[in-house]
Amino acid sequence: MSRDSGGGTVGPTAKSQNPPQGSAKPWGGRYTAETAPEVESFTASLPFDRRLWRQDIAGSTAHARMLARQGIISAAECDAITAGLAEISAEIEAGGFPWRLDLEDVHMNIEARLREKIGAAGGKLHTGRSRNDQVALDMHLYVREAVDGLDGDLVALQRALVGQAEANGQLILPGYTHLQRAQPVRLGHHLMAYFFMFQRDRERLAGARHRADMMPLGAGALAGTTFPLDPDQVARELGFGRRYANSMDAVSDRDFIVETLSCCALISVHLSRLGEELVLWSTAEFGYLAMDDAYTTGSSIMPQKRNPVIGELLRGKSGRVVGSLVGVLTVLKGLPLTYNTDMQEDKEGTFDALDTVRSCLRIAAAALETSRFLPGPMLAGVENDFTNATDLADYLAARGLPFRDAHAVAGRAVAVAAARGLVLARLPLDELKALSPLFGPDVFAVLSPEACVERRRSPMGTASGQVREQLALAHRLMDQPAGAGSWVAVNREE
Ligand code: ARG
Repeated sequence: MSRDSGGGTVGPTAKSQNPPQGSAKPWGGRYTAETAPEVESFTASLPFDRRLWRQDIAGSTAHARMLARQGIISAAECDAITAGLAEISAEIEAGGFPWRLDLEDVHMNIEARLREKIGAAGGKLHTGRSRNDQVALDMHLYVREAVDGLDGDLVALQRALVGQAEANGQLILPGYTHLQRAQPVRLGHHLMAYFFMFQRDRERLAGARHRADMMPLGAGALAGTTFPLDPDQVARELGFGRRYANSMDAVSDRDFIVETLSCCALISVHLSRLGEELVLWSTAEFGYLAMDDAYTTGSSIMPQKRNPVIGELLRGKSGRVVGSLVGVLTVLKGLPLTYNTDMQEDKEGTFDALDTVRSCLRIAAAALETSRFLPGPMLAGVENDFTNATDLADYLAARGLPFRDAHAVAGRAVAVAAARGLVLARLPLDELKALSPLFGPDVFAVLSPEACVERRRSPMGTASGQVREQLALAHRLMDQPAGAGSWVAVNREE
C-alpha cells in the first residue's frame, strides 16, 4: 500500500498553478522548486549532444511540415516554425547560438530559442512528440550519415591497399604462421588479405545501416499519440526506407547503435592488426618497410629514432573503440522498456568510436600510400631460410611418395642443410638423393622463390595470376555499394 493511497496526490503538494518564476524548463507547471544546480550539471547532455543540432533541426522541420499537412497546426505556424529553425541553424553555424546548460540538452535549447524567436507558434512544435522519439530520430539520422562516411573511408583505405598491391605486389616476402617464416608469398597477396578483411567490414556496416534507416518519430513518449500524425511523411522527407511498427520499440531501440559500434570495434581490431604489421615491418629486425618521414615521429632523446607511431596508435586506439561497444551494451543490459535516462549514455561512446575509427582509417590509408616496401630484406627473408621446405615435400609427393613420408624426407633435408649452414637450394644433389631416390636434377627449379609463389596457382593462391584475379574483383567491389556484389560465388555446376 502506498502512503499516498488516501490522498490522491503524489509527490510534493501542488502549491501553485504557476511555474516557478523565471523557469525556462518546459515542465515548470508541475514544479514548485528549481532544479538543484548540481543536478543540472549532472544530468545535462548538452556538452556532447550539441553535435546533433543538424539532425535535430532537420527532424523538427519535417515534424512541423507533417503537423501542418495533417491540419494539426496552421500553414502560417508551420512557416514561422521552419523559418525560425532555419535562423537557428544559421546562428549555430556561425557560432552565435546562446547555448544554455540549464536547458539540459540540444533538443530543449533549440526549442526554447525557437519560442524566443517566434513566440506561441514555437510552443506548438512539440505537439505529438516527445524527446524520447526526438532523440531516437536524431541518433538514427546521425548514425546513418556517419556509417555512409565510414564506408567511404573504408573504400579509401581499400584503394590504398590496391594501389600498393598494383605497384609493388610482385615483391616476394615470407608469409608467416605463428610469426615464424612459413612460405613465400607475393606482397600483393599479403596486402589483398587486408582488402578483403575491410570488404567484410563494409558488408557488416551495410547491415547496420539498414537498421539505422528506420524512422522512430511519431512514437511519442512511448505509446503513440492522440494526434493524427503521419510518420510516413516524416520518413519520406528525411529519406528513410522504413519506419518502426511499434512505438515502445521505436523509443527504446538502440540496437542500430550497438551494431554500428560492433562494426567499429571489429574495424578497429582489423586496423590494429595492420598497425602491428606496420610496426613489425619497420623494425631493423624485419626491415621490410620504410614509412615516410611525414608519417613517423622522432624521439626527444635518441636522435636516430623513427618511431612507427601511426601503427602503434592504430593498435592502441582499438582499446577505446572496443570500450565504447562494451559501454553501450552494458548500459542497455537489463533496461526495462521503454526510454530510460541511462540511454543518454549511448552518445559519447558512439561519437567517439565513429570519430576514432574514421580518423584511423584515413591515417592508415595515407601512411600506407606513402610507405616504401624494401625488396632486399623481404627476399632475403625468403632466400636465407627454409620457406621452400614445403615445396621440397610437394616435389616428392608429386612423384608418388605419400605426403606424410615426403614431409619427413624434406624435414631431414632441412636438418642436414641447417647442420651444414646451407639453405635447401645449396644442398648437393647426391645428398638429396641419399635421402630419397626420387630426387632428380629438376628439384632445384622448384626451390627458387619465384617458383615457390608461381607454382601456387590453386584458387586463392599467391601466384601472380591469382593475385591479378583478386585485384580485378577488388575493383568491382570498390565500385559498388557494399553488399551489392558477391565475392567469388561458388560454382555449383559439376
Ligand atoms: N538527452 C536525452 C538523451 O539523450 C534526450 C531524451 C530525454 N528524454 C527524457 N524523457 N528525459 O537521451
